[in-house]
This record gives sequence, structure tokens and C-alpha cells, in this order.
Amino acid sequence: MTVADRSLTLLRPMTHLRPAAALAFLLLATLACAPSEPDARSSSGSTQTPATLPAHGSQPGDESRDKTGGNGGAPTEPTDDATDGTGLPAEVRAAIDASLAELFGTFENPRYERLDSWGEIGFDPSIDAYSSAGAASSGDATAAREEFARSASTRWMTELEHVRRGDFQSVHLPEYALALLIEIHELGRKTPLAERDEALRGFVEAKIVDWYPTLAEARSIYHVHCESCHGAQGRGDGPTSFGHDPRPRDFTSGTFKFTSRVSRAKPTRADLLRTLSEGLAGTGMASYGGLSRAELEGAIDWVRWLALRAAVERELLATYEIDGEISEDAAHEAYASAWDAWLSAESRAVPVPTPTPTVTPERVARGRELFLDPKKGNCAQCHGESGRGDGPASYTLEPGGVKQSIVDDWGHPIRPRDLVEGKFRGGRKPEDVYRRIYAGINGTPMPALGDSKDANGAPLLSEDELWDLAFFALSLKP
Ligand code: HEC
Ligand code: HEC
Repeated sequence: MTVADRSLTLLRPMTHLRPAAALAFLLLATLACAPSEPDARSSSGSTQTPATLPAHGSQPGDESRDKTGGNGGAPTEPTDDATDGTGLPAEVRAAIDASLAELFGTFENPRYERLDSWGEIGFDPSIDAYSSAGAASSGDATAAREEFARSASTRWMTELEHVRRGDFQSVHLPEYALALLIEIHELGRKTPLAERDEALRGFVEAKIVDWYPTLAEARSIYHVHCESCHGAQGRGDGPTSFGHDPRPRDFTSGTFKFTSRVSRAKPTRADLLRTLSEGLAGTGMASYGGLSRAELEGAIDWVRWLALRAAVERELLATYEIDGEISEDAAHEAYASAWDAWLSAESRAVPVPTPTPTVTPERVARGRELFLDPKKGNCAQCHGESGRGDGPASYTLEPGGVKQSIVDDWGHPIRPRDLVEGKFRGGRKPEDVYRRIYAGINGTPMPALGDSKDANGAPLLSEDELWDLAFFALSLKP
């Protein structure tokens, strides 16, 4: 039995475990070399692509959903009535899938078609995690790489110990680094112990520390850590998604709630990294801070791939509705504009005035007035006068006086936040809350006050008033 086979059999039970526990489980199980029963799915003997990865064909429930993503990437077999079950002619579905495959590869073999404009702006999707990290800190990609290496050294401490002892066979990495693991084990097998000098150990150490996932490996990271909730195709419909309130995010919608950008802009890598490393307080989205920076960035790469691909697919379906056909040009245009939405987010930050003012009782008192004032903040209509999330606009009244919860863009019930409880998912620094009030929360009824104008077209709230509201919101937790 190969290393690959052993890892495969472990994929299933892991997905519902917490990340740290899951990894420990994998390491222990692999270390023990227990000849675990290969299950039917892993008997195919494939190495790189675990057989338990979700099939890219239709998922249960596809037909009741909208037309987007009726098929995860594989060309659809023509059905008897020559539609894909959603009323879309089979040849149109096939044309869309062919375009998607050209631009994104497949789920098994993902890639990106290069855009000419990337050359001009010096963008490369396979290494932008380093450059954006560099831009955020010192503007220096070398410093960014050092930061990645530091986090990998902590994450793989035990494994690096084996390497330093020259004991390559004891190195066990999660299955998404399988190619690397196999390479290391091969080296260990081929090189007699006596010859495993410093240089070789240094070489292997560098491989582990510098590892950055390919898109295929990124998908595998997602499969292990995220898919049970967010679903194989990122629709937020994984097997464990249904118990969650709020539901896990549907990445194919392209809507992200907790960004540092103006209303409706895409998140930056840094925004997604913050969500992953800190989690979202009070929701099923836990912190993944125990993973290495490269693993986190890999998960982000996959979330972006899913969202971009879904955006292009949606656009192509819309084009077909209007033009009755799908041209290659349309596909490339949709691709370029989908990327543009993500890349332009970098320049669309919420303008947060600096420095952050000091909180004073006067500011909090003014914030309270704005919070209650129907002509100004008007927050109380949703959040309630006491901030408990029970204002009159937090529900609608059905005939017969039955209270119905308001819903988010995905049609799920949503409550205005209980601010007395004091969980701030977008961060709890005054500038985080300022941003939240300015940009609102995408996909939810929480409005973007920074965009709101008064009757004369002037900004409804001044910068000072936005700070006052932020300080008041933060003051509600006893
Ligand atoms: C146990 C279920 C669960 C798992 C596992 C999980 N998430 Fe989530 N995730 C959620 C929930 C629930 C939300 C929605 C929270 C909300 O709407 O406030 C969410 C939201 C998100 C968001 C949206 C943030 C935003 O600004 O809108 C991202 C991105 C995300 N998760 C990424 C991931 C990634 C990547 C992984 C794997 C490393 C992962 N999640 C694993 C439950 C989960
Ligand atoms: C139309 C209803 C509505 C109005 C008006 C409204 N909110 Fe909200 N607010 C919400 C909802 C819904 C959420 C929860 C969204 C979520 O977590 O998905 C929320 C969440 C928040 C949060 C939590 C942010 C975080 O990072 O987790 C803050 C703070 C907040 N609102 C402040 C305000 C303030 C201040 C105002 C007035 C300027 C206001 N809201 C007006 C509906 C509203």
C-alpha cells in the first residue's frame, strides 16, 4: 500500500473534525502505518487526485437551483430532451462548459488563462499571495517570503526535526502536500543514510518551508478543511452546512460580508486572510490560525477560483439569455471583467480618516442620538433602542400578525446583530467598526451609511458622526 492510498482512506472521516484535530488524526494515523481498509473509492490507485474528492458532475439538488453551476465542469451528456434539466439546451451547456474549461481548466486540473493585461500590471495569480503580503507590510516580496517561511517552520516543527535527523521516511505531511511528501520519501529511499549530509537535509528542509500550493493542491486544502461546510463547488451547501445560522458562505455568489472595501467591492487577500486566521465570532466559521500561511493562502486561492469561475458562468448564462448564443469573445470579456472586480478591490478601500480619534463620553452620547435618530443613523429601527437587535424593522408582519424574520440575499433568515452581546465579526477596533458602518455588510440588510445622502444630496453622516456611531456601538457591551 502506498502513502497515497493510506492518505486517501483518511479523507472522509477528517472533514468534520476541527482543523488541528484533523491534522493530528492524519499524522497519527499515517505514522501508525495501520493497514486501514481501503474503501471502494480509493481502490482506483490514483495518486495525485484523491478519489474521494467530490465528483465534478451534478450534485443532488442542482435541478431545483438556478441554472448556474448545473454542472461542475464536465461536459454534460446530452439527455433525452436535449436540455440539462434546467431548460438550457444541451449544446449551450456544452459551450459554456467548454469556455469555462478553457479559462479555468477543470476541478481536477485547475489553471488560469493568462490575461495580457497581467503583464502590464505585473500580476501573476500563482505568486500574488507573496506580492500582496509584501505590499501590505514593507512592500517587499522578500520580507513576505520570510514571513511565510517562519510560519511554515512553526507549523511543520515536528517534521523538520525528522528532516534534520536525516529520517525522511518519518516525515508526514497532509495529503494535499502529497507530491512533496512522495518526493521527500523517494529521496530518503534512494540515498543511503551515511550520505545524507547537511546539504541534502537543508535541501529537503527548504522544500517544506518554501512549499506553496498549486491550484490543485489548494483545492485539496479546501477539501480537507472547508468543504464540509462550504460545499464541493463552494455553494455553501456542504453536508454540515445546514445546522449553521448564519449559513456558510456561498462563494459562487461572489458576495463577501466582512471586507475593508467600499460597499459591494470584492475582498482583498488581506480581508480573507483575516477571516481565516481570526474566524467570524459567533458563527460556525472558526479560526484557522493553526495552519501555515501558505495553507491559508492556498485556501484563499481556491475560494477565489470558485468565485471567479461562478461569476463567468453566470455572465455567460446571462449573455445567452440576451443574445441566444455564446461567443468566445463573450467568454474572454466575462473572464477579464470578473478578474477586474477582484483586482480593482485593492484600490477601493473604505476611506478611514486617521488618526483614530479618542473615545469620549460626549462622542458616545452623540453616537447614541444618531443611532436613535430616524433622519440620521436610524440604526434603532433594526438594532432596537437598546441595541439588542429587536427593532421594528428586524421582522416583517405577515397577515394575522405573525412575525417573519427578515432575510439575507441568499434567502436565509437574518437578525440584526445584538450589539449588547458585542460580537464584531469584521473586527472590534474602532476603525473596523467605522468601516462596517461606512460600507455596510454585503448581502445583508445592514446598509452602507458612508454612501447615504441626505435630501440635498450631501453625505448623510460626517466623518465625525460615523466615528461617534462606531464608539457608541462599541460601548453597548457592558
Ligand atoms: C463548520 C463550518 C465551516 C467550515 C469548516 C468553514 N467555514 Fe467558512 N464560514 C462558515 C460560516 C457559517 C460562515 C458565514 C458567517 C457569516 O455569515 O457571518 C463562513 C464564512 C466564510 C467566508 C466569508 C467571509 C465574508 O467576508 O463573507 C469565507 C471566505 C470562508 N468562510 C472561508 C472558509 C475557508 C477557506 C474554510 C476552510 C479553511 C472555511 N471557511 C471553513 C462556516 C464554515
Ligand atoms: C435594515 C436593518 C439595519 C439597519 C438600519 C442597521 N443595521 Fe446594523 N446590522 C444589520 C444586520 C442584519 C446585521 C448582521 C449582519 C450579519 O452579521 O450578517 C448588522 C450588523 C451590524 C454590526 C456588526 C458588525 C460586525 O462587524 O459584526 C454593527 C456594528 C452594526 N450593524 C451597526 C449598525 C449601525 C451603527 C447602524 C446605523 C448607522 C446600523 N447597524 C443599521 C441590520 C441593520
